[in-house]
Formats: sequence, structure tokens, C-alpha cells
Amino acid sequence: MRFDPDALVDVAVRVAREAGDLVRVTRDSAVSDVDTKSTITDVVTAADRAAERLVRRRLAELRPGEPVVGEEEGGAAVEGLTWVVDPIDGTVNYLYGIPHYAVSIAAQVDGESVAGAVVEPATGHVWTAARGGGAWLDGRRLTASGATRLEVSLLGCGFSYRAERRQRQAEALAGLATVVRDFRRAGAASLDLCSVAAGRLDAYAEHGLGRWDWAAGILLASEAGAVVFTPGQAPELGVDATFAAAPGIADALFAALVEHGFGKV
Ligand code: IPD
Repeated sequence: MRFDPDALVDVAVRVAREAGDLVRVTRDSAVSDVDTKSTITDVVTAADRAAERLVRRRLAELRPGEPVVGEEEGGAAVEGLTWVVDPIDGTVNYLYGIPHYAVSIAAQVDGESVAGAVVEPATGHVWTAARGGGAWLDGRRLTASGATRLEVSLLGCGFSYRAERRQRQAEALAGLATVVRDFRRAGAASLDLCSVAAGRLDAYAEHGLGRWDWAAGILLASEAGAVVFTPGQAPELGVDATFAAAPGIADALFAALVEHGFGKV
């Protein structure tokens, strides 16, 4: 590999921690400065913007010349190495004072994640993965769950900010309600994927994520042994589906999602 994944992880952790400190200490003022984006439910706070500025400035210092794609300022993935940044994943949780949010930073090479860090500012937890080097939470190696039965599996999910799509997602999930043990909608896709890596969820599936939502987490899930698909890789689940599942239930869940219309939302 042209890049050292462990060195990339170190940079991602360092910068994500700095951004995490910023969003944690500025929360009280940041949540009084809120705008909406794609719809009235899709919010951005002053902290999302300030954290992305900090990440871009620090990456420019530590990794000069490497392009950055971020949720708030955009940018395009290029051939070679691109940094992919969600300054606050779980912005709605952040707004409401729910501590389940994260700074997610990944390094992708030719569109594939090779290093990632997901830092939880409220708790200090640090999730990391380097391609081929396993998935880790605070230095403890992670393994996806050993689930083998769909009917007792816990499925993470999420909803679009667009009302019509949200309606169709809810209908597809309703069809699955008697197929799985239960659902969790925790509100931060990066942490949902980390939860699959840790076996806290048996699987996770959602449509319409931005690259910044999944780039780090999908590497953790994959490195922990989960079966994963990023948008475009599993058109039967919908062209923009993200999927991660423990290996023992992945085929059955995939089939159940298709059967219940998940691919048509
Ligand atoms: C959102 C969260 C949420 C998911 C949405 C994402 P944001 O990211 O990850 O869990 O359901 O699809 O957009 O807006 O908080 O960065």
C-alpha cells in the first residue's frame, strides 16, 4: 500500500479528538445558532461548521495537499488519498443534549476506506480501524456478533430527512418488525456501524447516507468481521443502501430486507 494505514489512523484520532473537544465545550452557545439544510428536520449548528473548519485546518497542517470531503463544506473524492469528515455525526442528538454523537474521520484511497476514527466527545471513547489491522474501541479489539438467528437479532436503522422517503422506510421496517428481535434508531450512523463492529447491534441498514456518515464506521464493521455494503454495492437493497451485518445472519437479513421492500424505498 502507498500509505501507512496506522499513521493515517493516528492523524484521524488526533484531529477528531481536537474537533470533539471543540464541539463539547461550545455546545451551549452552538445550539442557539442553528440552521436547516435539505429539509426543516435536517439541522446544522455553529459547532458542526466550526469543527469542520478546525479539521480542515489541522489536516492541512499535518497532511498538506491531501484533499478533504466534509459534510458541511463538501468537496470531491479523488483518485489517491482523500480525507472524509463528518464534524458531528448525530447532530440532532447533539442539539437535544443526547450524548450519542461523534466526530468521524476516515482516509479513503481510490474511494475505499483504509483508516478511520470515530470519537465520541461526550464520553471520550475512541473507535479505530486500519485496513487489515482489525477494529478497536479504546484499545480493545472488536468482533462482530455471533448471531445466527434473524428472529433474535437486533437491527440498527435510520431515517431520511425527506418525509416521503421516511414514510417508505418506515413501511419497509414495519414489515420487518416481526422478523427481527427489535430495532434501534440511535441517531448517529457512524456509531451504528461501530456498534455492529462491537456486537452491540447484530446488523444495521439505512439508505441515503453521505460518504462522511459511513466512511470510518464501515471499515470498523468490516475489520470486525461483519458483511458490509456501501452505497452502490448492493442495488437489490436500493442504490444508496449502507448495510453491515454479523456474518451468521447477513444472507437471511439481506433476503428479508429485499422481501419487505427495503430496496424500493
Ligand atoms: C445523520 C445520522 C443519522 C442518520 C442520518 C444521517 P448527521 O447524520 O447519522 O443517524 O439516520 O441519515 O444524516 O446529519 O447527524 O451528520
